[in-house]
Amino acid sequence: MSSKICSCTALGLSMSLGIGLAVNAAEAPPQVPVSINALMVTLVDHSAHHIWNHQALERDLTDDEWRLVEYYSIQLAASGPLLTLGGNGPDDAAWAADSRWRDMSQAMSSAAVVAMDAAKSKNKELLSSAGDTLLEVCESCHQTFKPSSPTEGFVHNPDYDHLYHLFVPQ
Ligand code: HEC
Repeated sequence: MSSKICSCTALGLSMSLGIGLAVNAAEAPPQVPVSINALMVTLVDHSAHHIWNHQALERDLTDDEWRLVEYYSIQLAASGPLLTLGGNGPDDAAWAADSRWRDMSQAMSSAAVVAMDAAKSKNKELLSSAGDTLLEVCESCHQTFKPSSPTEGFVHNPDYDHLYHLFVPQ
């Protein structure tokens, strides 16, 4: 009898715990398990350089090159909203809570969407203006928020530099 009560209680407990977890999961924002610093270097900077490197080519882009621009523009477009979630770096939560951060992340994403459209329509002029806008957005956010040395010690050079320089403009 007493064991029956026990198991009922245990069941009740685990049910309420289960419901509690479900409610928490619905309320808690998703946690980004890496830092803004790491995302900047491996995702944002990496994909943006593919856009700029192709923008800088003076000849027409091949179909494969347009496809690369499209691919990296998609990554960059998606990384804007990702930046608004913050990360696990020391200042990430404070940055993400700032409305200017959200606006600039959105502006970066929008410029990447224009680059994506340029790739779809193979429009070099549009790619050029998207690349210019992109550069302005990176710079204005860095002027506003970026500390003089990276909080996590990641800089694009030399750690990941070779990755996007695998692409050598011809
Ligand atoms: C919403 C604001 C914001 C935008 C937009 C942004 N950055 Fe950053 N970026 C930062 C901050 C803040 C840091 C410093 C992170 C740290 O040190 O923890 C940073 C760091 C970096 C770093 C590594 C640190 C270094 O000194 O090398 C690189 C590379 C970088 N950003 C590239 C870019 C590029 C390229 C773009 C545009 C395509 C861009 N960022 C757009 C805020 C931004």
